[in-house]
Amino acid sequence: MELKKIIIIGAGTMGQGIAQWFTQQNLEVELVDLNYDFAQESLKKIFQSFDKLKNSGKLEADAVESFKKKIYVKKMNEIDSNADLVIEAIIEKMEAKTKLFSDLDLLMKKNTILASNTSSFSITQLAANLSLERQSRFIGIHFFNPATIMKLVEVIKGIETDSDLATSLIDWFNQRKKIACLCSDSPGFIVNRVARNFYGEALRAAGNFDPEKFSEIDSVLKEVGGFKMGPFELMDLIGIDINFSVTQSIYDSTFQEVRFKPHSLQRDMVNARRLGRKTGKGFYSYESKE
Ligand code: NAI
Repeated sequence: MELKKIIIIGAGTMGQGIAQWFTQQNLEVELVDLNYDFAQESLKKIFQSFDKLKNSGKLEADAVESFKKKIYVKKMNEIDSNADLVIEAIIEKMEAKTKLFSDLDLLMKKNTILASNTSSFSITQLAANLSLERQSRFIGIHFFNPATIMKLVEVIKGIETDSDLATSLIDWFNQRKKIACLCSDSPGFIVNRVARNFYGEALRAAGNFDPEKFSEIDSVLKEVGGFKMGPFELMDLIGIDINFSVTQSIYDSTFQEVRFKPHSLQRDMVNARRLGRKTGKGFYSYESKE
């Protein structure tokens, strides 16, 4: 498989990391967001990250200069319809994603691969309204946070996805130091499904908003359980809004299995705009503010 140019739509937590990772694989990257200024800010952060890697000796100065020329921000109506791959990393809302993919289906050349970074939605359902030809070129590519560091990439094949496309993508990632695996198109795929109880049971153990309990539970799971991060630290990193949407989606798509039931504290945190690191406060407080 040869990929030269990629478009990343959604320049938030994930889009930013995914865009940086692809740039570091020497692809040309167009970064797009509903909020153009926000996308420019994300690009700035990517450049800062390149500079940090250069200063710590992890990247050569020449490489950084070349990467900075390969990535740029575009407005949605200016994207290159000849790109090889589009990865969507916008909010976890079904209507927003299906609308975007319908537009992309019409806009992009016929063999462009369309992919979603969704954490929980069915790939078959996301592709259902697209042309039949496009459905075979539609796939789930689920990165983990932070995308530049985490090795796992879940590749999800919908009912109509071309099997060869899935296999070729898995090979492509594995050749670039990611660990890609093929997942069934089942709610939450592998990691998010298994992790639901990591968050859910921790929320039930805490019961209500109590930072002392959050840090106690995090410490127990790290020091005794051997996890790198506790559930509350991890929810703050992921974004509590995103985590809540994913929980709701998995709960609904498993016909309301009780073990996946969301917790009212997640909803209260979202209503209070305590979304985690990205807003400066979540279960814990952070220095940077929204
Ligand atoms: P985020 O909230 O940080 O960023 C979402 C971005 O999408 C925002 O900048 C927003 O302006 C933009 N956006 C919203 N609607 C748009 C549209 N119609 N067109 C263009 N841009 C639009 O969200 P985050 O955390 O980056 O999540 C994005 C996707 O990645 C979600 O599907 C989520 O489930 C998935 N994901 C999230 C992970 C995480 O740890 N946060 C991990 C893996 C997957």
